Amino acid sequence: MAKSKLSFSCSACGSVFNKWSGRCDGCGEWNTISEDTPISSGPSSATLGASKGKSIALTDLRTEEAPPPRTFSGLSELDRVLGGGLVPASATLVGGDPGIGKSTLLLQAAAQFARQGLKTIYVSGEEASAQVRMRAQRLGLTDAPVQLAAETNLRDILTTLDVEKPQLAIIDSIQTMWSDTVGSAPGSVSQVRAAAHELTSFAKRKNIAVILVGHVTKDGQIAGPRVVEHMVDTVLYFEGERGHQFRVLRAVKNRFGASDEIGVFEMTGRGLAEVTNPSALFLSERGTPAPGSVVFAGIEGTRPVLVELQALVAPSPHAQPRRAVVGWDSARLAMILAVLEARCGIPFTGLDVYLNVAGGMKISEPAADLAVAAALLSAREDASIPAETVVFGEISLSGALRPVSQTENRLKEAQKLGFTSAIAPKGGKSPDVPGMALNTLGDLTQFVGDIFGAG
Ligand code: TYD
Ligand code: MG
Repeated sequence: MAKSKLSFSCSACGSVFNKWSGRCDGCGEWNTISEDTPISSGPSSATLGASKGKSIALTDLRTEEAPPPRTFSGLSELDRVLGGGLVPASATLVGGDPGIGKSTLLLQAAAQFARQGLKTIYVSGEEASAQVRMRAQRLGLTDAPVQLAAETNLRDILTTLDVEKPQLAIIDSIQTMWSDTVGSAPGSVSQVRAAAHELTSFAKRKNIAVILVGHVTKDGQIAGPRVVEHMVDTVLYFEGERGHQFRVLRAVKNRFGASDEIGVFEMTGRGLAEVTNPSALFLSERGTPAPGSVVFAGIEGTRPVLVELQALVAPSPHAQPRRAVVGWDSARLAMILAVLEARCGIPFTGLDVYLNVAGGMKISEPAADLAVAAALLSAREDASIPAETVVFGEISLSGALRPVSQTENRLKEAQKLGFTSAIAPKGGKSPDVPGMALNTLGDLTQFVGDIFGAG
């Protein structure tokens, strides 16, 4: 019999090694590497040729497949992020920081799906059933026919699901699940991987939709292995700043819908409330226009969202000036600063630069480039951008402004919220939105000259 090969993995980043060491080469953490136990020992690849497998039936691409039937929860923010309702026999992972509201969201979702007639089971590995019931009482969900269990033993859970045959099972959380086929402790990489694998394959086999909750580590990854993300059909992140009530449910992977869709919620005393007009919410805290404040007309998934960008530029006491960003990519900020310096002759040397996306929103769209540049310039020159103006456009390294998609939607949203003008890149088609004056520009130098009378 072939000797089984030892493998070791890191519980922090999931890197796999063939020998043990004290420090992980992948993430630099100490004492996180432990031995993996193989999930099953099938025939080794050396003997595969000798033992014959059975031939698989093949189909071709032409076969017409009906779209999967969907169940709507009635929480339209959630339904949209799922790609238009829940797909049967699908596996979804909902990740987020501890305490951000994952259990609250999923209990509300469970109640909603149950009210729509889906047989729903909610398994909590973190709280006792009484605790979950108390939360349900507080959220006014006690009338919903959801079945509860407080359990961490995966074998018992799978057996129960097999007997009960629900249409939806929610597992809160994958890190607490414990499979007896693997020797290591709950929460370790091999346990999380094995539990996720067993649950997702069980879901496909038995036609049950499963939603797994996953905690996120301090560097923003779903704790344990990224492999869980590959196993499931849909990965949603639940994000937000602790100090703010806004929560954003963001699809980062979706085999059944768009992967950049967001749903916006507000955490209230009675659970999560849907926010149907996020722009109004994100701009609600905006005071009188100040230098460094610019409104960016963005698109999140299929929806336009207006957010305020705030920049602060101040002389630095440090030899190495600070660049701090909240809600945007710091590498992208460095690029915009470099383009402003190289193409427009506006240096930021000796200046600290702070950039913040108001309301705890995270932006990843390149279309925010021009709005960021505008905020930086406005802060540096101490000159306000007119309060009723929105800005969007991508900046290339040459300093040229590139047209972005969905200009019309951005303008319409801005118009709806009382804005009267927009600064956007030239090129593409310029839609005519009544009440919106569109100022199109070719490059960043022109922007600096037109708006700040400099350059
Ligand atoms: P929870 O769903 O337990 O977070 P997670 O499962 O992601 O760890 O949410 C916990 C937080 O939400 C807690 O700090 C209290 C707050 N909360 C409210 O503000 N209102 C509510 O109605 C509920 C149920 C929780
Ligand atoms: Mg929880």
